[in-house]
Amino acid sequence: MTWREYHESTKHSVESLRRTRHTLDWANMPDPFRHYEGVPVLDLPADPPAPAISALEVLQGGAGGTLASDGPAFLSQLLYYAAAISASKRVPSTGSKYALRVNPSSGNLHPTEFHFATRGLKDWPDGLYHYRASSHTAEQRALGNFATGLTDIDAPIVFVLTSIAWREAWKYRDRAYRYCLHDMGHAWQALALAARATGCDSFAAGNFPDDEVAQLCRLSEDEWPMLIVALHGHSIPVCHPDVSETVWFEGRANKLSNEYTAYPLIDRIHAATKLRTDCGGICEAEPAPGGSGAIKLPPPASATRSFGEVVRTRRSALDFRGGTQSMSIAQLSAMLDASARPFLADFAGTRFVQLYLYVHCVDGLEPGVYRHWPEKGELEFVRSGDQRVIAAGLSLGQDLAGNACVAFSMIAGIDRAVRAHGDRGYRYVHFEAGAIGQRLYLAAEALGLGATGIGAFFDDEVHRFLNLASGQGQVVYHFAIGYPVPDPRLGA
Ligand SMILES: Cc1cc2nc3c(=O)[nH]c(=O)nc-3n(C[C@H](O)[C@H](O)[C@H](O)COP(=O)(O)O)c2cc1C
Repeated sequence: MTWREYHESTKHSVESLRRTRHTLDWANMPDPFRHYEGVPVLDLPADPPAPAISALEVLQGGAGGTLASDGPAFLSQLLYYAAAISASKRVPSTGSKYALRVNPSSGNLHPTEFHFATRGLKDWPDGLYHYRASSHTAEQRALGNFATGLTDIDAPIVFVLTSIAWREAWKYRDRAYRYCLHDMGHAWQALALAARATGCDSFAAGNFPDDEVAQLCRLSEDEWPMLIVALHGHSIPVCHPDVSETVWFEGRANKLSNEYTAYPLIDRIHAATKLRTDCGGICEAEPAPGGSGAIKLPPPASATRSFGEVVRTRRSALDFRGGTQSMSIAQLSAMLDASARPFLADFAGTRFVQLYLYVHCVDGLEPGVYRHWPEKGELEFVRSGDQRVIAAGLSLGQDLAGNACVAFSMIAGIDRAVRAHGDRGYRYVHFEAGAIGQRLYLAAEALGLGATGIGAFFDDEVHRFLNLASGQGQVVYHFAIGYPVPDPRLGA
């Protein structure tokens, strides 16, 4: 299996949707919360202080100054603003409630799990932990030094982010691997930005031997390691590392569904994108193609909403108001600026994803399709005219892409990524798309707008509409930003 075979066979088209109707088996829906049972569970202090720095400042690369007094306080603050439950929704027909989190997730199915190794954190035993999002606590899976086995960076906290593909496959079947990768990109940025807001730095590694890391962390076999994120910096309260031997509690991973359906295509693309023990250093990719446009973006709009507030109130819009209420071009500029800031990762030396915009309602911009050239801060005019019907149509007929002020197609140079990284590059372009999406979510929220990630689109229709020559790129993600309609199901 190659990335191309997987990608081609998971494209949506009118014909593929008709051919493969799918009814959801609600009784077998996977539990969105993983627990490792039978291990010590460590409390993280409740109500950690909110990072006061503005969200836009963090998105522009600024760092918060919060200094936690000890390891538990630091971890609690970090995770509360990166991965915790932040709201709930009520199902109108049954009245039952379900949780929503700081990080978004396709179908709210949350394939991403947060494991972390600590070394030398003040008042916190060195060991390997799993974040139990359902209770904002840490499951202690082992004591000992795992951090130095996971990264070359001298880092007191090292996250291992894993994917449970079955959670997404239950709903999205073979296409679900793409959503796991997007989700990972969102989770990575949620973590990296929360780290920045709490005054530290992070660096992500996608280039690691998968099976070795899975064994080192004794992961449940349904969890696949996808990213290793090292956190370092002066705001992390440290002392001397423990010198104790490794002690395993391990724990038993909870069963997520009564029955599991096999998705061999997902197993095969995952195997094709794995690295072996001897993976060596990462290659430099060819630079992204350069270009420019006639429209210079104005200075970004400013906003003062704090990172803490923005992150905890971020939601996906169910739909947007449509009509004539527009956003300003300075707001658009702020969001594009946030999306273009560098990513700190071993696969992010060059960008693979370019944004195409379907502008519906932006003051100072004629409705039409535009292409973003981030290095120059410019937009290139691609075609004029009202794009609302086509934007919704390309997003599998979802009205929200037409009712937004602006919708996006993220076009990735997968060939270029694969030339540099082999089939592993397939993961990286989706991580990048998800990471861009996370920044757009937070920038939109900071500016008083709303956003929604859109994983469902008619792939080849998008290519045809945008006139992309073969080899010019593949659509990997859609996105929409505008004024959200109220969501009556939402609660605190
Ligand atoms: C990768 C990804 C793809 C998504 N695709 C869609 C989509 O096609 N349509 C939609 O309405 N929402 C989509 N969403 C939004 C999710 O449904 C939403 O994140 C989830 O319900 C959780 O809600 P929250 O974002 O408010 O926490 C997507 C989100 C992500 C991260």
